[in-house]
Amino acid sequence: NVQTPPSAEERVEKLQGLGSSRKRVEDARFTQGKGNYVDDIKLPGMLFGDFVRSPYGHARIKSINKDAALALPGVVAVLTAEDLKPLNLHYMPTLAGDVQAVLADEKVLFQNQEVAFVVAEDRYIAADAVDLVEVDYEELPALTDAFKAMDADAPLLREDIKDKMEGAHGPRKHHNHIFHWEEGDEAGASKALADAEVTVEELITYQRVHPCPLETCGCVASMDKINGKLTLWGTFQAPHAVRTVASLITNIPEHNIRVISPDIGGGFGNKVGVYPGYICSAVASIVTGVPIKWVEDRIENLTATAFARDYHMTGKLAATKDGKITGLHCHVLADHGAFDACADPTKFPAGFFHICTGSYDIPVAYVGVDGVYTNKAPGGVAYRCSFRVTEAAYMIERMIDILALKLEMDPVELRMKNFIRKEQFPYASALGWEYDSGDYHTAMQKALDSVSHQALRDEQAQNRAAFDRGETRKLMGIGVAHFTEIVGAGPVKNCDILGLGMFDSCEIRIHPTGSAIARLGTISQGQGHATTFAQILASEIGIPAEDITLEEGDTDTAPYGLGTYGSRSTPVAGAATAMAGRKIRAKAQMIAAYLLEVHEDDLEWDIDRFQVKGNPEAHKTMKEIAFASYNQAIPGLEPGLEAVSYYDPPNMTYPFGAYICVVDVDVDTGVTDVRSFYALDDCGTRINPMIIEGQVHGGLTEALAIAMGQDISYDEIGNVQGGSLMDFFLPTAVETPVWQTDHTTTPSPHHPIGAKGVGESPNVGGVPALSNAVIDAFAHKGLTHSQMPHDHWRVWKTAQSLGLTG
Ligand code: CDP
Repeated sequence: NVQTPPSAEERVEKLQGLGSSRKRVEDARFTQGKGNYVDDIKLPGMLFGDFVRSPYGHARIKSINKDAALALPGVVAVLTAEDLKPLNLHYMPTLAGDVQAVLADEKVLFQNQEVAFVVAEDRYIAADAVDLVEVDYEELPALTDAFKAMDADAPLLREDIKDKMEGAHGPRKHHNHIFHWEEGDEAGASKALADAEVTVEELITYQRVHPCPLETCGCVASMDKINGKLTLWGTFQAPHAVRTVASLITNIPEHNIRVISPDIGGGFGNKVGVYPGYICSAVASIVTGVPIKWVEDRIENLTATAFARDYHMTGKLAATKDGKITGLHCHVLADHGAFDACADPTKFPAGFFHICTGSYDIPVAYVGVDGVYTNKAPGGVAYRCSFRVTEAAYMIERMIDILALKLEMDPVELRMKNFIRKEQFPYASALGWEYDSGDYHTAMQKALDSVSHQALRDEQAQNRAAFDRGETRKLMGIGVAHFTEIVGAGPVKNCDILGLGMFDSCEIRIHPTGSAIARLGTISQGQGHATTFAQILASEIGIPAEDITLEEGDTDTAPYGLGTYGSRSTPVAGAATAMAGRKIRAKAQMIAAYLLEVHEDDLEWDIDRFQVKGNPEAHKTMKEIAFASYNQAIPGLEPGLEAVSYYDPPNMTYPFGAYICVVDVDVDTGVTDVRSFYALDDCGTRINPMIIEGQVHGGLTEALAIAMGQDISYDEIGNVQGGSLMDFFLPTAVETPVWQTDHTTTPSPHHPIGAKGVGESPNVGGVPALSNAVIDAFAHKGLTHSQMPHDHWRVWKTAQSLGLTG
């Protein structure tokens, strides 16, 4: 009855490590409704907070009368800026070096701004009391056009900083100016344009949109007055940073603050910042001594909590007649709303926008960005992207198509001609980045072959002829995009948030019986970290993924980390996980050497064990080593098997992809049908192909949302449009096409396992592919550009302006 030992393949299979499409361990509880979200947290005696919000875009607050609200049975307190002033909490610091009113201080600066915080025994009473707070406003002229923000007669928005002409990022030119920031060689780029055989210029607006996660933002704050400990449960993408900020602004010692991110129902950048609701809940709990819950509703989330994009980008490209790009010049007017609350690393007020040379070898480039205040909600978050990378990719991918039109060249040919070549990596871009690795020609060629690109162009030529003969009312568009991302912020030497270097961390404890727990400084919002980080470890330390518990999001237990956004988890925390695993393995090797009575150097690692070189029969499995580490006195070694790694990445990672989209546009209705969408992603070493595919599907669906419908606009008096799901486009399965995914694998040379991020790539590449496709449908009729979103009405207007409608 001798059992044959498992083969090497069986041992690898059992680990479910790198490259395995392991099923998501989180899903057992999510699919059974057993997730634990903020709103599931119920504490004894808990009260509920709700906001009185401004109906005006810009108005002076003449008076606030709380009496009627306080008289309502069940109402416990009504807080206003006046109540927060003695605590110095009426303003809070933003991630961008500005301050933001927690509760409006004498003025409101955007519609739905927080004016007062009502605390009551239940949500319904709180909502009723909100209606009873009487606020007397004097309406002021609103500024909602960013292009008018710096006019001589533009209304003064920020009275609190009107005399402060030095901002967080240098001098301010006007009372509504926030910063000017630039990178590159302006004289060189201007000369390239002046000397060029061909130039193109276009104003490309990436409209204001919103991440709109399914779960809105919220928190529960609980002040334990006996022990002096404040616990905050909340929708936090960066729990440790929240703890530090909370300590700095409340003066509660950091060890007395515990921040817990429970399950989070999508973040997409929306849950990075610190919002008035968090501060007011904490203050209310400190004042009342009981827990306070605040959960915003959908309209509050869409209209007040962190917008994205709102970039007006003027791109100029210089090129030779045969299509070699010789220079790029770009200026961005960035509409930041009423407070500069952008979530970017401190030194980068425009995020990583200067990745805007994209996938192309452009010899000289310049980018300048001016941020302005308007009467709109603050934010500027990285909506499923790495700090303005999506805006940058959109700008360059549109400009390439515009240049191709002018040169009468196929957009693919123009891209191929200008791609950074494989042998040029690591590649130093004209705007200061060092791209780690890439093989763009191979990726593009694979994409072209997969969709039979030439056959599509031939079909399009026939479609256009048929349209001109009056045989069809539909036009076919082909959109190509090749994007380069920059993810994994980031090297501590140049990336920090509020002075906290952007490293990340992993701590591992191996239990005596050979299972383990790993804790990380990141926090999943649906990406499946508990599944994939365990896979990295399984391959590193030879313990099956299913025997590794993964924990994130509790600052009392997890090592300090900067959180999850900007696709940084795999590039940074994933690297920390591999490095911590390697520390475990190094100690395990010493233990194995002792047990096998050989020198460490005589051992080699084999899947889940150390074996004596040349004699695999003599081995110790990780399970045996784990037990030995707890039950044997090993000379020169501490008992136990634990490790921690704080990883400071040497560089960011540069995922890329080639996307091709085909649309059919009905010119009489503007209805655009996405016939097919092919997405090839290269995220280096792939940890879990199934999860990657899910990430790509999700990101493409959000790209579809943005390109085809999402828009948070304002009318001239500051009323926000598109602030509910009646107007704001959130695609369902009905609108979502079938996504075809593919990949190439170009590992990152500096990441311990060669992995790059992937979560955001499809949003970065999807938006230009869709937009290019819609515009391409009309390109033969003279259209070079039209502003997103390409909803039916706008597409119909485009067709009408080209004289194509009936
Ligand atoms: O920071 P965030 O988790 O949003 O993004 P990410 O690092 O791109 O990872 C998203 C998900 O994809 C995680 O579960 C990763 O482990 C997985 N992934 C992967 O399997 N292989 C990669 N090369 C990159 C990400």
